[in-house]
Amino acid sequence: MKIAVAGTGYVGLVTGVCLASKGHQVTCVDVDEKKVEKMKRGETPIYEPGLQELMAQSVKNLSFTTDYKEAYRDADVIFIGVGTPEKYDGSANLAYVYEVAKQIAQNAEKHCVVVLKSTVPIGTNDKIESYIHDKQINDVKIYVASNPEFLSQGTAVHDTLHASRIVIGVTEEYPAKVLQKVYEDFDAPKLVVERRSAEMIKYASNDFLALKISYINEIANLCEVVGADIEEVTEGMGFDGRIGNRFLKAGIGYGGSCFPKDTKALNWLANFNDNEIRTIRAAIEVNENQKFKLIKKAKKYYHDFLFLNVAILGCTFKPGTDDLREAPSLVNVPLLLEDGAHVRIWDPVGTANFKKRFPDKIQYCDSIEQAIEGADICLILTEWESVKNFEVEKFQKLMKCPIVLDGRNCYSLSAFENTKITYDSIGRKTINPNLYKEN
Ligand code: UDX
Repeated sequence: MKIAVAGTGYVGLVTGVCLASKGHQVTCVDVDEKKVEKMKRGETPIYEPGLQELMAQSVKNLSFTTDYKEAYRDADVIFIGVGTPEKYDGSANLAYVYEVAKQIAQNAEKHCVVVLKSTVPIGTNDKIESYIHDKQINDVKIYVASNPEFLSQGTAVHDTLHASRIVIGVTEEYPAKVLQKVYEDFDAPKLVVERRSAEMIKYASNDFLALKISYINEIANLCEVVGADIEEVTEGMGFDGRIGNRFLKAGIGYGGSCFPKDTKALNWLANFNDNEIRTIRAAIEVNENQKFKLIKKAKKYYHDFLFLNVAILGCTFKPGTDDLREAPSLVNVPLLLEDGAHVRIWDPVGTANFKKRFPDKIQYCDSIEQAIEGADICLILTEWESVKNFEVEKFQKLMKCPIVLDGRNCYSLSAFENTKITYDSIGRKTINPNLYKEN
């Protein structure tokens, strides 16, 4: 089947490459010429494990172009995977989706199925369909289907090739048949539903996971106060199949391109329809506060951060990606800088992006050792494997004042028990709490 994919971000590019790996002829379209040139050379513009290799293996089925006219002219299926960024009021900005829809309407020369992968408010597929029909030039039938994407960054290729489910939202039989054919070699349950249900499945799933995280973060905060241990609590909860043991990891809040945006978008959508979705509103508020958890903890040890040497381990919103979107580092680091701290950051892949936003004032380090050497306090913001495997004795050996604030519970408490390190994590008791407190 001849497939075009609009947008080569995480969703578009991963979709395109995975479809090509299954034998489809795929053209990936992007407006960014530099990006397209890079992909033509076999390089991926995003860091995503396994993607570059799969791109190389599928090279004979893949092409990259800025020429959307040619790509949409005779495609059987056109996936739209462009961004739907958050607007100032929390709603989703659909400008890029509409732009692609217009290009398709003006260039499609044969019957085709337009598939919306981007996360869009409920009812958008209906509007896009009418918009395309209004703008289309040639007398061809253009169907619109919703096929939301559930991939996670860092495991995007695996999540696409082994999806938990493939949701196909349609109003007619033909696009459902076409999409079932497109995905016939994907080993995943395929669910054909109403188009609006498909749109809602995406929001409801993402927001449920965000809710789960905010819930467990509040339980963790309470554990600290009442003397329970969140890791033991979640282990005990996770045995109950109705709860499940995933997405129960307490920390300094969720970030990324989806949860923050999709919770706000659903909240906006509810308000817009004179409705309320109070659980999600609460999840958003809890998450915003949780991001400052380590700064609040730091205040237990230092009254202010002036001239303090602060080591930051991890700046991406989660391990396995170089993406900084909505990462806790983006709110913590400016606060520290504003208060006059000297900040050093180590991250295995994220520092190049961080540097673009904060070119001055920060020292970027090549190793964890370099970041913590002589530091007065260390904040762990991302649970990279090299942080989890780091010998904790080195904190004592290298830091001026070994206070480790762990926002991702990377270590067992026992690892710090016979040390002179203050170890303060999320939802657990603090080890050696009084060694270095200022009076
Ligand atoms: C998410 C969804 O998982 C995916 O299905 C959807 O398509 C896009 O949004 P992603 O944003 O890539 O994927 O990352 P995910 O692994 O879900 O993590 C999101 C955030 O939640 C990260 O900041 C992570 O640190 C945090 N998180 C996740 C927790 O704090 N605790 C958990 O238990 C899980």
